[in-house]
Amino acid sequence: MDAQDPLRHFRERFHFPKAANGEPYIYLCGHSLGLQPKTVREYVEQELKDWELLGVEAHFRGRHPWMPYHEFLAKQAARLVGAKPSEVVVMNSLTVNLHLMMVSFYRPTAQRHKIVIEGSAFPSDQYAVKSQLKFHGFDPAASLIELRPRAGEATLRDEDIVALIEREGDSIALIMLGGVNYSSGQAFDMQAITKAGHAQGCAVGFDLAHAAGNLLLHLHDWDVDFAVWCSYKYLNGGPGCIGGCFVHERHAHDATLPRFAGWWGHDPATRFSMGPDFHPTPGADGWQLSNPSILSMAALRASLDLFEEAGIENLRAKSLSLTGYLEFLLDHCASRKFEILTPRDPQRRGAQLSLRMKSAGREICDRLAEAGVLCDWREPDILRAAPVPLYNSYQDVYGFVQRFSALLS
Ligand SMILES: Cc1ncc(COP(=O)(O)O)c(C=O)c1O
Repeated sequence: MDAQDPLRHFRERFHFPKAANGEPYIYLCGHSLGLQPKTVREYVEQELKDWELLGVEAHFRGRHPWMPYHEFLAKQAARLVGAKPSEVVVMNSLTVNLHLMMVSFYRPTAQRHKIVIEGSAFPSDQYAVKSQLKFHGFDPAASLIELRPRAGEATLRDEDIVALIEREGDSIALIMLGGVNYSSGQAFDMQAITKAGHAQGCAVGFDLAHAAGNLLLHLHDWDVDFAVWCSYKYLNGGPGCIGGCFVHERHAHDATLPRFAGWWGHDPATRFSMGPDFHPTPGADGWQLSNPSILSMAALRASLDLFEEAGIENLRAKSLSLTGYLEFLLDHCASRKFEILTPRDPQRRGAQLSLRMKSAGREICDRLAEAGVLCDWREPDILRAAPVPLYNSYQDVYGFVQRFSALLS
């Protein structure tokens, strides 16, 4: 399978961390922190060089001028999420962007004030939506709807999500789900959820932390109102890297939408006139607040160039096969000391499989690291492993399951 894989050479373009014995780890943690592309250093050094040689002048005269630097990323980021470049902006980090989006798209009234999230949403999303509810004077106990699987099931059923939206739609102001749930690895039917939400008059947004660079996304065609993501997981931008944000072009010129403003969102044609009144740049760029970190964007550009070269459709095709292989090998493990939580339907998951460990799971995760495999652990009982199509091989998957199976027995 590796010999036939047309993307196999991309693996050589990443740094693999090494275990104490000097051997590279089998790295299955791209759902947490993607590996460093070898070109990151060169991209970042280019900006350090321009800073060294040009100082402030690099804003205009640098090889990649800093003033419009975020625009260099928009086209590639847009392709990854299925958007027009004007609908995408690279800025801030995920939770900050989520708040900014909720300022514009969570507009509760006395009748319509509820927010729908997954019961197992990433904690930062839970804190963010609860704090927004409180900020608007609502009690999360009454205004937050948390989606939970049916008794005895590990993931949500698509039809149950749509049924809830249809049942409670009148009172729902915002539906805000993960594209892929961080814990179970379940991918949601974003198109169907958006359609159902809009039919009820709700705004619909997604946290794509685990979906960007992982799934094929069509945010524009799906008519999603907004989305936010981070760039340090499947997008390999490095720890704490600058995040991204999508605002559908339907909203690009809507002057009635409230938003928090900052100078970098001001129309660049008049930004430096330094006037006191805010005139937003049309499109997602108009939601920017501050001038962004060039070094962080440079690191991300290195990775997005690799995505561009590999092609997200090719990556997704390999990912389906690679994760399918992982599932196949796990299903053939003699041990029944774990179960796969992630949906079996390949369309309802990305690269990651989440394993519920029946006992000693944490210890097994630690022992795997000692045996040269990096996965991760999420309390109370979940071991997550994600073979990433850009740099993982079938051999990696095989090596992981061999060691895992040996540890279990
Ligand atoms: C699903 C999800 N949402 C939000 C966050 C928080 O991201 P940030 O620290 O960039 O705000 C994470 C971080 O891992 C995440 O996995």
